[in-house]
Amino acid sequence: MSNYVPVITIDGPAGAGKGTIAGLLAKRLGWHLLDSGAIYRAAALETMKQCVALNDSQAIIDTLNKMDVCFIDGKVIACGEDVSLAIRTPECAGMTSKIAAISVVRAALLERQRAFAASPGLVADGRDMGTVVFPDAKLKIFLTASPEIRGERRFKQLSEQGISANLATLIDEIAARDERDAGRAVAPLRAADDAITIDSSRMTPQEVLEMISSFL
Ligand code: CDP
Repeated sequence: MSNYVPVITIDGPAGAGKGTIAGLLAKRLGWHLLDSGAIYRAAALETMKQCVALNDSQAIIDTLNKMDVCFIDGKVIACGEDVSLAIRTPECAGMTSKIAAISVVRAALLERQRAFAASPGLVADGRDMGTVVFPDAKLKIFLTASPEIRGERRFKQLSEQGISANLATLIDEIAARDERDAGRAVAPLRAADDAITIDSSRMTPQEVLEMISSFL
């Protein structure tokens, strides 16, 4: 097939290290990168800015259809504005998992995500990359880590970005978000049947990268 584009999916709960690993892997392979969470986060930020009510699905869809998101030099640009930091706050993350549970929202963002698949290949990071968005991916990874480690990693990441957070609160917020993501009716967070699960609790990013590369 001339238009076949290989895809590697990396799904898993918050703070498991998906973003770091996906970035390293895409760089190593020279492939494109899709941070699907950033698209959902930008969508949530936009609905918050427009004060759209969570139960007004049509207004959310209208907002999403008008929203233009792109990634430039590692920055997330939504409607012409650099939202890279604004989308990372715990408040935005909480709102994101609420709008991400709405089926029409997921449907509206599906083709946008698939459009990232381009030659020579794509590494896609998210919750439903292997189950829904790219079911035919050549390699599917489900990356996990213990809740405490995930909380600590996210705490460190936010501190480095200058975003203040309380570790205990953060662990609770991540647990609440995981529960919403895994419990929702549409595209719940789960490993695809053909995914390889890696517990990264005691692994460095480099070790995870080497393990994934060994499956290629
Ligand atoms: O970085 P972290 O793992 O904390 O989150 P993210 O990947 O940026 O995703 C933020 C939220 O977006 C998740 O908690 C999900 O609710 C939602 N999301 C989703 O539903 N589907 C995806 N493919 C990616 C993210």
